[in-house]
Amino acid sequence: MTENKIKGKKLFLVGVGPGSSKYLTDVVKDVIKRSKYLIGYKYTLAIIRDLIIRDFHQVYEVTMKDQDQTYNEVYKKMQDSEFCTIPFTGDVNFSESEVVDRLLEIFGDDNVELMPGISSIQVAASRAKIPLDKTRVLSFHVTENIEDGKRELVDAIQDKKSVVLVPRPWNNRDKNFMQSEIALYLKNEGIDTSNLTVWVFEFLTTPEERVFRGKLNELEHMYFSPMSVMVIDQVERKTYLDFE
Ligand SMILES: C[S@@+](CC[C@H](N)C(=O)[O-])C[C@H]1O[C@@H](n2cnc3c(N)ncnc32)[C@H](O)[C@@H]1O
Repeated sequence: MTENKIKGKKLFLVGVGPGSSKYLTDVVKDVIKRSKYLIGYKYTLAIIRDLIIRDFHQVYEVTMKDQDQTYNEVYKKMQDSEFCTIPFTGDVNFSESEVVDRLLEIFGDDNVELMPGISSIQVAASRAKIPLDKTRVLSFHVTENIEDGKRELVDAIQDKKSVVLVPRPWNNRDKNFMQSEIALYLKNEGIDTSNLTVWVFEFLTTPEERVFRGKLNELEHMYFSPMSVMVIDQVERKTYLDFE
């Protein structure tokens, strides 16, 4: 936390890890402990539940529909020098910008501090042993149009890059872009999906964690939880011995 900036209302947008509270960093724990106001979705509040002190914290559970009203209410209610923390799943800097940008609008950039967490993307990369610097990372978990992202996905696969992505679980079936839609889309784009290795990780870092490993075409008729990350594995391992 940047101590010299504690004048005014202070909002912390923090990553709390993708599931297990063991992925919470100490700096994030510190600001949660010092924040009178905590606002979050059910899932993220559950990750930090052991840090909530009944007599001190004012906790607001929000949904996608009512969040805007609560953000505005709390902003108005807060006094100078008071802290509010909003926990985000995984890393606040990955696939959260539609909410983060709105909070920057309400609170103003100078009153907001972002604190990174460990993303589901990083955990998936670790499980699959894929170096992120040689991987295209994509999020389809966005409200905006995903056509450009779909093109990027095709290009990355054709460039022999690995891909780590979060799919798009939408209520509207036409907008869904889950594992089965991804497999069919790539096949229609002329990619040999029977030859590509994929991993699907569900409920990472929780007791329900599950993994599927197989070929991309196998996903055509498989259904996974919205809480999942997919890896297309095209890694060619190279060590420093290859470059002597
Ligand atoms: C809006 S995105 C937020 C991503 C998050 N900021 C992160 O860094 O992991 C939400 C999506 O992330 C993925 N996700 C988050 N936590 C996960 C977990 N524990 N296991 C698998 N996927 C997860 C799912 O695809 C979920 O629908």
